[in-house]
Amino acid sequence: MNNIAVDVKNLSKSYGRLKAVDDVSFQVEKGRSFGLLGLNGAGKTTTFKMMVSLIRPDKGTAVVAGYDVCQEPMKVRSSIGYVAENPAFYTRMTTYETLCYICKLLDVSLSEQERRIDYSLELVGLIDKKNAYVGGFSRGMRHRLGLAQALLSEPAVLFLDEPTLGLDPLGARNMRELIIRLRQEQELTVLMSSHVLPEVESICDEVGIFDHGQLIARDTIVNLRSTASDSMNIEIVLAEPNEQVVGVLQSIPGVNRVKTIGTRLEINTIKSDDLRPIMLQEALDNGARVLSFGLQESSLEDILLRLVNMDTKHKLD
Ligand SMILES: Nc1ncnc2c1ncn2[C@@H]1O[C@H](COP(=O)(O)OP(=O)(O)OP(=O)(O)O)[C@@H](O)[C@H]1O
Ligand SMILES: [Mg+2]
Repeated sequence: MNNIAVDVKNLSKSYGRLKAVDDVSFQVEKGRSFGLLGLNGAGKTTTFKMMVSLIRPDKGTAVVAGYDVCQEPMKVRSSIGYVAENPAFYTRMTTYETLCYICKLLDVSLSEQERRIDYSLELVGLIDKKNAYVGGFSRGMRHRLGLAQALLSEPAVLFLDEPTLGLDPLGARNMRELIIRLRQEQELTVLMSSHVLPEVESICDEVGIFDHGQLIARDTIVNLRSTASDSMNIEIVLAEPNEQVVGVLQSIPGVNRVKTIGTRLEINTIKSDDLRPIMLQEALDNGARVLSFGLQESSLEDILLRLVNMDTKHKLD
């Protein structure tokens, strides 16, 4: 049996002359989680909308949970869950009425409906708001209701477009833990976009970086880290300032620069040679009292900005 949950091929969508999504292809295996990253307007939401059959691609195809989004959109919709960027609901309906309405759209049988509604509300922690009007919900509660409605289809693939947008730190953490739990317990395939990069790092196995409608990189975060950077950053914290050590470190072949911030040294070196043993030895030999010493991994934010800049530069050249 096919192990691919989402198969996107040459997907394209233009608005007038603007190519919102430009020839994007990628696959996501069942049970994996894939993060869509990119600056505002990069094309993530438009890609989501095509994958969940809300808008038709101009060109290309997407096969989701085994169904083609253009040929079998209803089958796609009943196999997936989608939480939009800003989930909107009828404010004069209660939580229960809202979810009953979604069940009707999904053609869930009446006998099954109650079980699914209670299960989804329990999962997202809204069971005690079952009879509350949605109009009185805070943003965090609307997001949780968004996730509850997405789970009603018992989805094979979950699409989350900025699931923690506008949530407070506790709400964001709860949402993140819920997504991780859903992945583990139900072996869901998850595609999500987020500008909160540590969140993407904690949830996603792989990421795709979008820029001006194109998918410019796709890999695990570990691999992207190593390809996006041609140097290493090492941090040494000394007990007291030591100019002599700074000079010695600066003169080691392969060290690009040493930046001093109080007693903290940030050392940028070439990547091909691991200079850490030499640097530590030299620091100690020159009388430094070292409080800490370690590799500074580039953040996902650094990687994203670097790849987008490289892509923009490449297009201008
Ligand atoms: N309905 C529309 N009509 C016209 N232009 C649109 C429409 N939807 C999106 N666009 C444009 O397509 C481009 C991609 O938008 P999209 O919403 O997919 O970006 P995004 O990556 O989700 O951005 P963000 O991080 O801000 O959510 C943008 O330039 C946007 O202005
Ligand atoms: Mg968006």
